[in-house]
Amino acid sequence: MYYNLGLLQHTMAKVALIAAGDGKNMELALKFKEMAEEMGHSTDVMDLMGLEWPVITNKLMKEGYKPEGAKDLMDRLGGADGWVCIAPEYNGGMPSSLNNTVAWMSIFWNDFREVFNSRKVGLATHSGGGGDHVIMAMRQMFSYLGCNLIGRAVISNKNKEANPEAMERIIREITE
Ligand SMILES: Cc1cc2nc3c(=O)[nH]c(=O)nc-3n(C[C@H](O)[C@H](O)[C@H](O)COP(=O)(O)O)c2cc1C
Repeated sequence: MYYNLGLLQHTMAKVALIAAGDGKNMELALKFKEMAEEMGHSTDVMDLMGLEWPVITNKLMKEGYKPEGAKDLMDRLGGADGWVCIAPEYNGGMPSSLNNTVAWMSIFWNDFREVFNSRKVGLATHSGGGGDHVIMAMRQMFSYLGCNLIGRAVISNKNKEANPEAMERIIREITE
C-alpha cells in the first residue's frame, strides 16, 4: 500500500513472521512483529509447530490427505509482501516443523510456485549455541524455491541477543 502525505511518503507493507519454534523463536518472532509495527507495517505471525501437521508420507499423499489449514497458510503467505523465517537449529539443520510444512504446501504445486517465486525472505534464529547451520539450510531451501534472500541474517542464542540493527535492516529490505 502506498500513501502520499504531501512531502511525507510512507509505504506500508505486510510482513509475515514465520515462527518454526514455539519457544525462544516465537519470542523472537514477536520482537520482529513489534518492530515492524513500530515501523508502520502490518504483520501476520505464523506458528508452524502449532499446526501439528503429520509427517508427510507416500501413504498420506496417495490417500489424498490435505493438512487442515494448508490452503489458508498459503493464502496468508501469498498475501504478505515479505517474510521473516525464524527457526531454531536442530542437529545442524532446520527443524522438521519448517521442512514438513513446506513439503505439505508443495502438494499444491501451482499455487506453491506462485507463493515462493521472487518472495523477499529474511532469516533469523534463536538456537542452543550455534545457529549458522540452520541459517545456511534455510538459505539453501528458500533460494531453491525461487525466493530472494536478504544477505544479512539474525543469529541469537543464550549468549548473544538478537541485534536490533540487523532486525531493522531485514524488515526494511523485505518491505522496500
Ligand atoms: C532435537 C534438537 C536438536 C537441537 N540441535 C541443535 C543444534 O544442532 N545446534 C544448536 O545450536 N542448538 C540445537 N538445539 C537447541 C535449540 O536450537 C534451542 O533449544 C532453541 O531455543 C529451540 O527453539 P525454541 O526455543 O523456539 O523451541 C537442538 C534442540 C533440539 C530439541
